[in-house]
Amino acid sequence: MKLWGSHLMKADPYHTPVLLHAAINGLITDPSGFYVDVTFGGGGHSQAILKKLNNGMLMALDQDSDAIDNSIDDKRFLLIRQNFRNIENILEANSYGLPIGVLADLGVSSFQFDNAKRGFSFRFDNDLDMRMNKDSSLSAYDLLNNYQEKELENLFTTFGDFKTVESKRLAKSIVAARSNGLLKTTFQLVSSIESLVPQKIRNQFLARVFQAIRIEVNQELTALVDFLNQLPRILKKEGVVSIITYHSLEDRLVKNFFRTGNCNGVLEKDFYGNTSKPFLAINKKPIIPESEEIKMNPRSRSAKLRIAKRI
Ligand SMILES: C[S@@+](CC[C@H](N)C(=O)[O-])C[C@H]1O[C@@H](n2cnc3c(N)ncnc32)[C@H](O)[C@@H]1O
Repeated sequence: MKLWGSHLMKADPYHTPVLLHAAINGLITDPSGFYVDVTFGGGGHSQAILKKLNNGMLMALDQDSDAIDNSIDDKRFLLIRQNFRNIENILEANSYGLPIGVLADLGVSSFQFDNAKRGFSFRFDNDLDMRMNKDSSLSAYDLLNNYQEKELENLFTTFGDFKTVESKRLAKSIVAARSNGLLKTTFQLVSSIESLVPQKIRNQFLARVFQAIRIEVNQELTALVDFLNQLPRILKKEGVVSIITYHSLEDRLVKNFFRTGNCNGVLEKDFYGNTSKPFLAINKKPIIPESEEIKMNPRSRSAKLRIAKRI
């Protein structure tokens, strides 16, 4: 397997897998079973799953063509460039039946984040892009130059967790910059809002601005909701799902879904008042990385792993 991104220096791994053992150990209940890793990335989790299988099968998905270049040469493995929001159709189109285990390790890979050309980071100057799927029609440039001021404000509040007053100011500054034709690059975006950035928490503030835009560009939360809603239909009974999230918006959706079978977190009752839950959360509290892992891989610090069983 190629763990080294072709556009990066040799010393930079494509991605260091997070919570590797905890995510895989609970997942594999039958070494001859069929498994799906819906976020292949650099393939670290997929590689570990394959190690635990004997004559089982692993299908992996990623919407990014750069991730597809990391494919694993193994006859028990199939990698498909697809969005996991289409999981049910993908499984129907490939005749392996229903999986007994599904893994999702959400968000962006280190490769996407550290590759200046992808425009995900405020540390590098490049075109505003932030698309995980490079064929998608909406880039950060399109969004920032076309969304209404109110839409920008809303996305900063919802996805960046900014106060309304901060979101309003951010949206206003962006609209002013774009009307002067000054919103094409990541550094231009940073300059357009520089006067609003508290210097003591500069990096955290800018990270939230970029995260909010990235979530909207990639429709990350709607893709997650679509995926979760298909899980009860696509996972075999007794099958396990492991999901690693990196911020509270994602984690809340997963937590609610495992608890109640829907993303709102409200238990639905049938005509007779009975509730039916499709999942049993295996760990009541999310599993988080040990301090040792965070030291080795600081990007793991916000990770939360939740594991549930289909009942
Ligand atoms: C955190 S990385 C996964 C890293 C991987 N577990 C590893 O060990 O290298 C997330 C990956 O999921 C992909 N991804 C994110 N959202 C996706 C979606 N909705 N559909 C398909 N792939 C997605 C990204 O392109 C990225 O490569």
